[in-house]
Order: sequence, then structure tokens, then C-alpha cells
Amino acid sequence: MNNWLGLAGKTCAVTGAASGIGAAIAEALVAAGASVALVDRNAEGVQLVSDRLNTAGGKTLAVAIDTSDEAAVRAAADRIRTQLGPCSALINNAGLLRAAPLADVSLSDWNSVLAVNLTGYLFCARSFAPHMRELGHGSIVNVASISALNPQTNSGAYSASKAGVLLLSKQMAAEWGPEGIRSNAICPGMIRTALSAKFYEEPGFEKKRAAVTASRRVGEPEDIANVAVFLASDRAAYVNGAELLVDGGMDCMLMDLVPRPGFNTQAATGAH
Ligand SMILES: NC(=O)c1ccc[n+]([C@@H]2O[C@H](COP(=O)([O-])OP(=O)(O)OC[C@H]3O[C@@H](n4cnc5c(N)ncnc54)[C@H](O)[C@@H]3O)[C@@H](O)[C@H]2O)c1
Repeated sequence: MNNWLGLAGKTCAVTGAASGIGAAIAEALVAAGASVALVDRNAEGVQLVSDRLNTAGGKTLAVAIDTSDEAAVRAAADRIRTQLGPCSALINNAGLLRAAPLADVSLSDWNSVLAVNLTGYLFCARSFAPHMRELGHGSIVNVASISALNPQTNSGAYSASKAGVLLLSKQMAAEWGPEGIRSNAICPGMIRTALSAKFYEEPGFEKKRAAVTASRRVGEPEDIANVAVFLASDRAAYVNGAELLVDGGMDCMLMDLVPRPGFNTQAATGAH
């Protein structure tokens, strides 16, 4: 099963690679033998991840830019092509969360969330697509969220941005599929990362989250990384324009949350 994914010797770019899901995806791509460009606006953090992976024998390049700045993204794509070669895969993952109810969300927060979570994905995709055209094939993996499919109070800007990612992902599949470029989206459920770390500080919180998940556990960044490397690889050659929910079965728990005395004690009480 050596090089089962066929990623050895290929070049990939991962945004938001300084932390959480992005760092885990970068690590999984390196483990599969790819050279990886780690893109993040956290210069120090992304350099640390790159140094760690290089020390372990990987070939990575840290690139510190803001993905919502199109000129910076284009310059980064050129630098990556020069230093690592054209990318056959882009993992669009850099994202942020700003919590507020719709009635109060500031225009600045609304615009920042859309600029990074949605527009930044477009900027990266259209800056790396020329690499893929040059190669004659490519894969864009867009990390969306279960929030793209389900509203959650206080999360309106985030959910709208992620819903936009799902359509953007399909749009890229439709427009660029004929050129050999695939585009797919992953919708992670609840994953333990810096983005959600604050929630887990509350005593008993993790147990409550596990209780509303069919698999009865919170997800780890590696759970998403394994799916991302598959979609990035030629093993997913006929997967195009798809949305893959990776949530431990949380999305199928809605009816278990409906009070029904005597039937739904597990989810209601948090028992395992
Ligand atoms: N953690 C979860 O439960 C969860 C669930 C669903 C979806 N997601 C999505 O997964 C992705 C990764 O999230 P995470 O949980 O690993 O978060 P994280 O906060 O650990 O990592 C996000 C990374 O993105 C970088 N980033 C943010 N804005 C950027 C910008 N403008 N330019 C470049 N880099 C930028 C940050 O510096 C950080 O390193 C996000 O798109 C997030 O919305 C996360």
C-alpha cells in the first residue's frame, strides 16, 4: 500500500496551516510524501509547523500571508511554484469565527468573516488553478463546516460564509472540471482545535458535545486530515463537486434531540 494515495513527489498548498485542522492536513500530506506549502497569516506559528515537519524529514515551505489579500495570494502562488513546483492540490482551510446575533453583528465583523472564509477561498483557488492547468490536473479541497448546512444562533456571519463555500466549491467544479480540476467540500462537525478551544474549558462541555454526536466523541483534526488527503489525491479522481460531511454522525441526531419521554434518554442526559 506504499504511496496508495499517489501523492509522493507532488506539491500541495494548505491555507490556515499554522494551527488545528490545517496543520494536521499539512502533516498528513507530508506523511503521504508530498511537498507542502504552508500558508497562514500567523508567520511565527506557520514557521514553527514547517520547521517541525522539515525536522521530521518533510519538505515544506512556510508562507506568511493574509489569504483575503489577492495580490499577496498571487505573489505567494508564484513563489511556491518557483520553490516547490506547481501545486496539484490546494486545501482551502484558513478561516475565522466571530460570534454575534444577526441583529448586532458589526459590519466590520461580518465583512472580515466573509473576506477570509469565502472571498479568500476564491482568491486562493484562482491563484493556484493556473498551476493545475499547467499540470493538466488538480484538486481543490474546500473546508466548509456543518454550519453551512444548519443555522446556529450567534453564528450568522460564519454560517453564511460557509454556505457560500459550498456553492463556490460546486461552481469551481462546474467551471474548471473540463480542464481536469476537481473541487470538493468537506463539512467538519465539532473538531477540537484552537478555534473551539475556549468552549472545551467549561467543565463537562466535551461530554455534552459527545452526547449529541452519533459516534459519541468530539472530532480530532486528523479526522478531517484523512478525508482531505483522499480528496486531494487521484484516488478521488471521479469525486467532483461533492460535499462530504465529516461529523461523527452529528447531523443525523436532530430527531434524538426532540423530547420524547422514555425514548431519547441518551442524548438528552449525555449518557454514553
Ligand atoms: N474546529 C472546528 O470545530 C471546525 C468545525 C467546522 C469547520 N471548521 C473550519 O476548519 C477550518 C480550520 O479551522 P480550525 O478549527 O483548525 O481553526 P484554527 O483557528 O485552529 O486555525 C485556523 C488557521 O487559519 C489562519 N487564518 C485565519 N485567517 C487567516 C487569513 N486571513 N489568512 C491566512 N491565514 C488565516 C489562522 O492563523 C489559523 O492558523 C476553518 O475554515 C474552520 O471554519 C472548524
